[in-house]
Amino acid sequence: ATERSNPTGRAPILVASNRGPVSFSIEVDGSLTPRRGGGGLVSGLSAIDDPSSVWVCAALGDADRAAVRRSPEGRLDLGGFDVGGQAVRMLDIDPDTFNRAYNGIANSSLWFVHHLLYDTPFSPLFDERFHRAWESYGAYNAAFAEALAAEAAPGAAVLVQDYHLSLTPALLREMRPDLRIGHFSHTPWAPPEYYRMLPDDVAEAVLAGILGADRAAFLTLRWAFAFADCCEAVLGATVDRDALTVTLSGRTTRLGVHSLGADADFLRSRSHRPDVDARLAALRESVGSSADGTPRRTVVRVDRTELSKNIVRGLLAYRHLLRTRPEWHDRVVHIAFAYPSRHDLPEYREYTAAVERIAQEINDEFGTERWRPLILHVNDDFPRSLAAYRLADVALVNPIRDGMNLVAKEVPVVSDAGCALVLSREAGAHAELADDALVVNPYDIVATADALYRGLNMPAGERADRTKRLADAATVLSPQQWFLDQLRALD
Ligand code: G6P
Repeated sequence: ATERSNPTGRAPILVASNRGPVSFSIEVDGSLTPRRGGGGLVSGLSAIDDPSSVWVCAALGDADRAAVRRSPEGRLDLGGFDVGGQAVRMLDIDPDTFNRAYNGIANSSLWFVHHLLYDTPFSPLFDERFHRAWESYGAYNAAFAEALAAEAAPGAAVLVQDYHLSLTPALLREMRPDLRIGHFSHTPWAPPEYYRMLPDDVAEAVLAGILGADRAAFLTLRWAFAFADCCEAVLGATVDRDALTVTLSGRTTRLGVHSLGADADFLRSRSHRPDVDARLAALRESVGSSADGTPRRTVVRVDRTELSKNIVRGLLAYRHLLRTRPEWHDRVVHIAFAYPSRHDLPEYREYTAAVERIAQEINDEFGTERWRPLILHVNDDFPRSLAAYRLADVALVNPIRDGMNLVAKEVPVVSDAGCALVLSREAGAHAELADDALVVNPYDIVATADALYRGLNMPAGERADRTKRLADAATVLSPQQWFLDQLRALD
């Protein structure tokens, strides 16, 4: 209430996202250590060098909450720690409300609908618990809208990120009609017939919430059109597909498309630091050489252990390759990095167990005393991921559906000697990389195995040429440019 009676702040540019640019861990002595987050948004934000801009995010755990409580007015004291120049305001939202909003709605319902992850004979079940979580999602979105309203200078630009915050644009517009509001979806958008599985009130509120922005932006035209299709089918909005606008009750929201590229400068320098060199040497050692002394080839994947990343089918495709192409026995190793993610959700815990089980089965079926056909690492290690990017002969990026997929763009940039890219046609990156990737239907294990085989057999010269073109296509839009373009489009 105090915030609303003093409605204008000083920030000319604001960003809002669930996960912020920094998170904390508690040390044994009780002190808090900040850690910079990864991802395109954090890199993009380094483009604004304006200390009066503010990034509003949520405290994600106990350490973050402790950091907020030690900071005046929720503004984090980062002790000179660099998150791209702007101040960070972390919201200390009641843990139960946060968990219901984040796990109950954002990560299970909205993420699942946009990535087509429902297992329809059993899920979803929109029961009382879901509707209670939906109320919490409203409260969580309102907390963001209030904080943004309090921080924003008159006429400020506010960039609201992702499916966690789909109600915030409309709530914020009501409090502060002077602001220029953008919403950006980092996910795919579901087609209307799938989207309409959500309860009607939820389906409507999510769309109307985003339409509260002046501009609703997506990573590809495909997702922007899917959003427009849902606005038409669910809300009866008027869509102009040439002008890229959606009009509802006399208000028009512009649609935007901003593809996100790999951060070439950062990746190229980071991937040649000594810690990455050391990990590359260790990886080479564990991959080893075949009986005739030739270094083994590698198929590499790097993902969060995320249902939409399709890791299980990727492993089954590799198994099919080994079953049908025995000439590759002892000559190839699959390096699969599957980092922990969203373990509060039982589906993710089960999926992680399935990944580990199938990986074990593959090693049991084909492994020999001298050859371990599959190396699975489940602990996040960024320099080791970069080392695997440099080493990969074939990269496997086979998501069921993905807003963009930056691994597909990062590997060609970092690769030492060229890497064949097996790429799902359902990844947003497909729109830019299709010409030089080996494109697959992610559900088809046999076709994926065949693409792996083609990648392994691709002549070195062709691999290097394709990798060069992939790297060019992957770096057209730097994260910094991606961010500045969104800001400019709000003018
Ligand atoms: C996707 C989403 C991001 C999210 C990230 C990690 O990339 O688009 O908004 O931050 O996954 O997921 P998490 O639940 O750990 O934040």
